[in-house]
Amino acid sequence: MDTRPVGVFDSGLGGLTAVRQLTACMPEERIVYFGDTGRVPYGSRSRGTIRRYARQDAAFLLSQDVKMIVAACGTVSSVAADLGQELPVPFLGVLGPTAQAAAAATRTGRIGVIGTTATIRSGSYRRALAAIDPAFQVFDRDCPLFVPLVENGFFAPDDPIPRLTAERYLAPLREADVDTLILGCTHYPLLLPVVAQVMGPGVALIDSGRETALACRRFLQEHGLEAPAGQEGGRRFFVSDRTEGFASIAQTLLGESLEGSVEHIDIENFPCAGAEDR
Ligand code: DGL
Repeated sequence: MDTRPVGVFDSGLGGLTAVRQLTACMPEERIVYFGDTGRVPYGSRSRGTIRRYARQDAAFLLSQDVKMIVAACGTVSSVAADLGQELPVPFLGVLGPTAQAAAAATRTGRIGVIGTTATIRSGSYRRALAAIDPAFQVFDRDCPLFVPLVENGFFAPDDPIPRLTAERYLAPLREADVDTLILGCTHYPLLLPVVAQVMGPGVALIDSGRETALACRRFLQEHGLEAPAGQEGGRRFFVSDRTEGFASIAQTLLGESLEGSVEHIDIENFPCAGAEDR
C-alpha cells in the first residue's frame, strides 16, 4: 500500500483520457496531472526537444512526491521510452499496453495506427506490434491536425470540421481494410465517436488512454503500491500556460467542475538533466 499520488503527464489535454479511466477504476488513488499546455503540441517537434520536455515533466512530478509516473502521451512513449531508467520511481508509457490490446483485438492481423508525426516517424508501434507477432500487417498514418482540434475543443461528433479532417486522414486506412485501429495519441480518444463514424462498425478502436490506465492499475496491484482501501482519492491539475482554457475543456471531459484545482507552474524551472539528445 502506498498513499502517495500517481503522477500523469501529457503535452496538454490528451492525458486526461487516461485520468478519466484511472479515476473510474481506482477512485481511491490520488492523481497529480501535468499538461504542458505552454509547449503543446509535442508531436511536430524533434526527438531531442521531446526528450528534454519529457525529462522536465517527470522532474516536476517527482517534486510532487509521486509513487509512479505515467507518460500518458504516445509521443513521449515513442521517443523517450527509456526515460524510466533515469527515474527513481516506476515509469509507464502508452505503447506496450496499447499494442497488446490491439494484438488481442485483431482477427485479420491488419492493424492501423494513427498518431502524431513524431510517433509515426519513430516506428514505435510497428516495432511493438512486430515483437508480439511478426505476421501482423501494420498501416500507419500521422494526423497532425487532430491535436490542435482537440486542444481547441473541436471534438463534438456532429462537428463537420473534425469529421472532414478524419475522413481525409483515415481514407488510406479504410482502403487498407484494417480490422483494428490504434488511437496512438492520447488526444485522439476524444475524437473516438468521429473516428468510429468514419471507420465503420467493423473496426475495433483501441484507446491508448484507457489501456494505459488499466495497465497502471495492474502495475500498482502487482507491486503492492495501490492506495489503501478507503483513502479519499483526489486530483490536482497543473499546466504550463493559462489555467482557464484548460479547466473549461477538462471539465467537459471529466464531467465535473475543476474550479480552483488547476494551477500554473513554470516548467522551465525544472531540470532536464540526462544524456544529451539531438
Ligand atoms: N497526447 C500526445 C500524444 O499522445 C499529443 C502529442 C502532441 O502534443 O502532439 O502523442
